[in-house]
Amino acid sequence: MIKDLQNQKIVIAGGTSGIGLATAKMLVESLANITVTGREQKKIEALHISDPKLNAIAIDSSDKNQLTTFFSTFGSFDHLIITLSGAKGAGSFSELSLDDLREGFEKKFWPYLQTI
Ligand SMILES: NC(=O)c1ccc[n+]([C@@H]2O[C@H](COP(=O)([O-])OP(=O)(O)OC[C@H]3O[C@@H](n4cnc5c(N)ncnc54)[C@H](OP(=O)(O)O)[C@@H]3O)[C@@H](O)[C@H]2O)c1
Repeated sequence: MIKDLQNQKIVIAGGTSGIGLATAKMLVESLANITVTGREQKKIEALHISDPKLNAIAIDSSDKNQLTTFFSTFGSFDHLIITLSGAKGAGSFSELSLDDLREGFEKKFWPYLQTI
C-alpha cells in the first residue's frame, strides 16, 4: 500500500504531533508529498527544522475561513487524513465530566466536519 502512495499528494489535518505526525513520517518515507497542518506556530517551525521533507502549515480547522483559504489555494490532492484532537472528554466513563465531554466533542466534531 505504501508503495502505491509514491508521489501522491497527501494532507494530514492535525499532523503536527501524535498519530498524525507519526503517519506523516511513515508516509514521507514512501516518497509521498505530505502536508501537515496544526494550530501551534511553534510546532510548525520546529517541524521545518526537524522534518524538512514535510510541508507544515499553520491552520486552525475550527476556523472555516482559514480552511477555505488553504484548500482553495492548495490545489488538487490525492488523500486527506484527519487526526485532529478535541483534547478533552477522554478517560474513564465513571470519571467523565459532561462539560469536558461537550467541549471535547465541539472541538473535534466540527473541525473534522469543516475540514472534510
Ligand atoms: N492517542 C491515542 O491513543 C488515540 C486512540 C484513539 C483515537 N485517538 C484519536 O486520534 C486523534 C489524534 O490523537 P493524538 O493522540 O495523535 O492527538 P495529539 O497528539 O493531541 O495531536 C492532535 C493534532 O491535531 C492538531 N489539532 C488539534 N486541534 C486542531 C485544530 N482545531 N486545527 C488544527 N489542528 C488541530 C494538534 O496540533 P495543535 O494543537 O498545534 O493545533 C496536533 O497536531 C484524536 O482525535 C484522538 O481522539 C487517539
